[in-house]
Amino acid sequence: MNKILVTGGAGFIGSNFIHYLLERYDNCHITNVDLLTYAGNLDNLINISNDPRYQFIKADIVDFNVISNLISQGFDAIINFAAESHVDRSIEAPGIFVRTNVLGTQSLLEAARRYGVKKFVQVSTDEVYGSLGQEGYFTEAASLNPSSPYSASKTAADHLVLAYGHTFGLPVNVTRCSNNYGPYQFPEKLIPLMITNTLADKPLPVYGDGMNVRDWLHVNDHCCAIDIVMRKAKPGEIYNIGGNNERTNIDIVKTILRQLNKPESLIKFVQDRPGHDRRYAIDSSKIKQDLGWEPVYTFDCGMAETIEWYYTNVDWWKKIKSGEYMNYYNRMYGKDLGEPPVALLEVFE
Ligand code: NAD
Ligand code: TYD
Repeated sequence: MNKILVTGGAGFIGSNFIHYLLERYDNCHITNVDLLTYAGNLDNLINISNDPRYQFIKADIVDFNVISNLISQGFDAIINFAAESHVDRSIEAPGIFVRTNVLGTQSLLEAARRYGVKKFVQVSTDEVYGSLGQEGYFTEAASLNPSSPYSASKTAADHLVLAYGHTFGLPVNVTRCSNNYGPYQFPEKLIPLMITNTLADKPLPVYGDGMNVRDWLHVNDHCCAIDIVMRKAKPGEIYNIGGNNERTNIDIVKTILRQLNKPESLIKFVQDRPGHDRRYAIDSSKIKQDLGWEPVYTFDCGMAETIEWYYTNVDWWKKIKSGEYMNYYNRMYGKDLGEPPVALLEVFE
């Protein structure tokens, strides 16, 4: 697995994965294809942009001609991270999620099958299983029951990937991971949003009662699992990748406030997300048993390191939290947080 095509490599997990591979393998060659949507950020890769083992191509995975031309050059593996990834945005505008996540995946699969790619890894999510009550865990055998346009589009993509494996013999794997946190995560997601708002002494918008539960995994642990799946997994296998680390949202927010020594009065309960999934939890024993992977980060260490990263890399997120991001922020939170857009903008100048 030397010649690797990473899609969506300018996003959060994709860029961490590229760093991960380059740090570990001298003889790998990585091509990063990314459309550079609002979530794609080449600053994430600035320190490796001149590495001879790395090249960047700006392209849309939905554009079959471009993708197929590229894949015809021959790749050992394709790791598909490219996606619209934020549930709240999928509630605002579902269409783009179907376009990128479903049609984009199919375009990659079709090109991969035509040009004999040796491994196709679809980076999916635990959200395809849907919401759980207080008890239990989803295994890979659970039926899929997505509830947001985001998770529905990821579910459709999972089915297509498995169908290409089954019908055409394409060597595919699907990984379904729980919520990631770590460096370079776009500050629309819970953890980076709460850290950066706390650093700016701004209100922390918690949806509903704050008691929704997510399982959290450090992004480096996720990258390690994907690398192992790419190299060792049998074609056709699906793997859950979890952190055994369930937390309520309010607990996460309070942890951040404590570590940054800021008052809980910053917490602001706001209107709940429509169709908000109550709890995600997966059983990851299969990947441990088959491939020997387990997470190495404890949540306390991972969070401390992550908070430190956002504290030291203020320029990275200040640049994002301007312009177009603020339009989104005001649409999402302006009414609930009761602050005029101008005041919100000033924080990040
Ligand atoms: P992200 O939003 O940070 O990055 C997505 C990247 O895809 C961006 O760089 C964007 O520019 C690119 N992209 C979007 N549309 C494209 C297109 N049409 N063509 C080419 N590139 C395009 O997302 P992320 O958090 O890094 O997630 C990566 C993958 O992992 C996604 O498939 C997501 O469903 C999955 N996942 C994420 C999490 C999480 O907690 N973040 C958990 C489980 C699974
Ligand atoms: P998010 O990071 O959007 O991931 P996902 O919805 O894919 O799990 O949200 C994580 C949890 O945090 C989810 O229960 C929604 C909640 N949340 C808030 O309470 N406030 C916010 O501003 C955001 C972005 C999320």
